[in-house]
Amino acid sequence: MNAVDQKIEEIGIVPVIKLNHPERDAAPLAKALCAGDVPVAEVTFRAAGAEQAIRLMKEACPQMLVGAGTVLTEAQVDAALSAGAEFIVTPGFDGGLVAYCQKKGVPVYPGCTTPTDYHAALKYGLEVLKFFPAEQSGGLQKIKAMSAPFSMFRVMPTGGISLQNLKEYLSCPVIIACGGSYMVTERLIEAQSWEEITCLCKESRRLVKEARG
Ligand code: 3PG
Repeated sequence: MNAVDQKIEEIGIVPVIKLNHPERDAAPLAKALCAGDVPVAEVTFRAAGAEQAIRLMKEACPQMLVGAGTVLTEAQVDAALSAGAEFIVTPGFDGGLVAYCQKKGVPVYPGCTTPTDYHAALKYGLEVLKFFPAEQSGGLQKIKAMSAPFSMFRVMPTGGISLQNLKEYLSCPVIIACGGSYMVTERLIEAQSWEEITCLCKESRRLVKEARG
């Protein structure tokens, strides 16, 4: 595992963020996550200002690990990197895009949920995959079943993770960390509920520690 994998594993939870008003919300959100002991963010390209959001979060909290999510094109990889993104997450497996990230030297976590996806990931020498959408694709049971033939991979399940199931997921050693939007929902961000976000992060970190004993 590389240094980014290790930092993600240490934190155990990766907030998946869509920011509609980065100029207003990126800095306070970054500070709220760090105050909750979750200094990592996957900023998705689902909103137009993702590049600006990455830059502003990194500026506000330089110690934070900031990556880009919902990356679908090479142009978005370039935009994310120029903004300072330290990792790339893609919703599905696109070999060309994985190779492009590897050429650029940035860790990439492609979404994989099937044996076919895992075979493809193996060819690219990947060690950590995003398992997306986790709950909708069979959840923990499927992750465990897939790990029998593909024991070389660790995964980051995302999609349907909540405070209710986080601990159960993290108790499985195949899982490096979970991704989720429950602590950074559009409702919380629109309402600028920074303290509530910090509380949800602290509660998540408590569960990470409990799950790992
Ligand atoms: C993602 O893109 O990773 C997911 O939309 C996050 O899923 P969640 O909203 O169910 O946490």
